[in-house]
Amino acid sequence: MHGDIMVISARRLFLDQEFRNRLLTQPQYLDDIEEGFFSSLWLPCGISKMTWSRRLDDVNAAIRTTSQKIGRSPQHCLDIGVSSGVSTQEWLEDLHSNGFLCSVVASDLTFRAYLVRINRQLYVLVDQDAQPLQYEILGITLRAWCRRRYYLFGHFITLWVLRAAFRAYARKMGVAGRIAHWDNFRIFPAGSPVIYPVRLVSHRAEALTLVDDAPLFGDVQSLRGRFDVIRVANVMNRISFSEPELRLMARNLRARLVPAGGLIVQGRTNGRGVNDFSIFELDGAGRAGVVHRVGLGSEIESLILLALDGGIMDTYARN
Ligand SMILES: C[S@@+](CC[C@H](N)C(=O)[O-])C[C@H]1O[C@@H](n2cnc3c(N)ncnc32)[C@H](O)[C@@H]1O
Repeated sequence: MHGDIMVISARRLFLDQEFRNRLLTQPQYLDDIEEGFFSSLWLPCGISKMTWSRRLDDVNAAIRTTSQKIGRSPQHCLDIGVSSGVSTQEWLEDLHSNGFLCSVVASDLTFRAYLVRINRQLYVLVDQDAQPLQYEILGITLRAWCRRRYYLFGHFITLWVLRAAFRAYARKMGVAGRIAHWDNFRIFPAGSPVIYPVRLVSHRAEALTLVDDAPLFGDVQSLRGRFDVIRVANVMNRISFSEPELRLMARNLRARLVPAGGLIVQGRTNGRGVNDFSIFELDGAGRAGVVHRVGLGSEIESLILLALDGGIMDTYARN
């Protein structure tokens, strides 16, 4: 579904309770709809929220077998950049069903978005900076970014007009300021425009512990030194981030590991849908090594190793 122009609108998916209750009786159908919705969202930083069920099964299995092989039994795990949380929920279930009774915290840049109701026919889903993520006009949903084929159909003109009109409207109505004062899902002050907070999480992930966190932007004190395993799937790449940013992210990941060290699992699903991941182990002295690879391993493996380095352990020394 997510290959098509039409995806479900945030309004229907999150705010139309009757529709949502109906979908909850058909969880598989709801899964597909959510997958299409999240995969259609692109953040202004150039990263999508694309995710899908069972995407990381082989990575999850590798985390288990590697933990067993090196004699580390994870107690607390952190999943970074989880999008809808579906793959985090699957990781948790995989760990529990294989006897690892550990906790998993799901984090993302933010789980919050806001639906701005301009009138009965026009809604705009925006991020925390009031940047559009999706438009709904006359019941038709449009991504806030322009697919190549949109050029063919002239959609880009519609998008351009919508973007310019919304920017002018948001400036006039102080949308960004109203969102900035929003705190912990309290009620927005009455008046125009009506803004609804939306929690960007799958129905399957509602029981997860969710934390707003962006390792690029530094330390979340409550996460420091807490985790034995950190998974960063489909977040760190050379297109969206510069090398200094990737190094900084790696060091901030290390700060989230317990003092005795642990595992960082990082990589991406390549264009053929195959996972290329590396599992890095850090010891208590801060030395890092690669203990396992899935597929070809992470494309930024050496950069991460150097950034984590307090003395590099032999790569594959523990295999
Ligand atoms: C492609 S999705 C990956 C989802 C899931 N991990 C997977 O592999 O299916 C990328 C996610 O990274 C998040 N993200 C983008 N920049 C980030 C940052 N600097 N720190 C943390 N998360 C970030 C996005 O919000 C998005 O949900």
